[in-house]
Amino acid sequence: MTSSAKTCPTPTARQKRVWDKSASGYDKQIAFFEKNWFTGGREWLAERARGRVLEVAVGTGRNLPHYPADVTGTGTELSPAMLAIARQRAAGLGRNADLHEGDAEHLPLGDSAFDTVVCALSLCTIPSPAAAVGEMRRVLAPAGACGCSTTSAAPGRRSTPPSGSSNASRSARPVSTSPAASCP
Ligand SMILES: C[S@@+](CC[C@H](N)C(=O)[O-])C[C@H]1O[C@@H](n2cnc3c(N)ncnc32)[C@H](O)[C@@H]1O
Repeated sequence: MTSSAKTCPTPTARQKRVWDKSASGYDKQIAFFEKNWFTGGREWLAERARGRVLEVAVGTGRNLPHYPADVTGTGTELSPAMLAIARQRAAGLGRNADLHEGDAEHLPLGDSAFDTVVCALSLCTIPSPAAAVGEMRRVLAPAGACGCSTTSAAPGRRSTPPSGSSNASRSARPVSTSPAASCP
C-alpha cells in the first residue's frame, strides 16, 4: 500500500458522514415527504407506544411530539449532528428523553429492556437492517411491541428519497439496503 492509498470507510461510517452532513437540512426536506407521502404516519406509529420506549435511529426527533406523555423515552442515533437536533427538540418539548449516540446494529442496551421499540424511515439506511431488527428484538420485552415504518415507491415508480439517504432509488420491496458496496 502506498502512502497515497485511501482506506475505504465502513458502510456505517459512510452513513454517519452522510447524515452528519445533511442534518441541518433534514427537517425541511422530510417535512415535504411527511406532507405528501406519509401524512399521519408519525402520529400513527408514536401514539401506539407504551411504557419504556426505545426509538432506534431517532434522527432529529420528529416523532417525539407524538409519543404519549406517560412513556419513558430512550433514543439512539448514529449521527451526532442529527442527535444534537433531537436533543434540542426534546428540550423544547419539555420531554425528559434519554438520547444517545449508538449503532442500531450493536445497541448498548440490555435484553428485554423495552415495552415498545420504534424505528421510523431508517431500516432503508442502516447498513444491515437484519442486524438492527435482531437487536430490536433482543431489547424488546417478551410481551412488547415493535413498530417500524419505511419508504417504498409504488410498483414501477421511481421514488426520490431525502438527499440524506444514499439510495439512488427504491423499489416496491419493503426494505432495501443503501450503503455503497465499494468506495466512491
Ligand atoms: C431517514 S433518517 C430517519 C430519522 C428519523 N427516524 C425520522 O423518522 O425522521 C435515517 C436515520 O437513520 C440513522 N442511521 C443510519 N444508520 C444507522 C445505524 N447503523 N444506527 C443508528 N442510526 C442509523 C441516520 O443517522 C438517520 O438519522
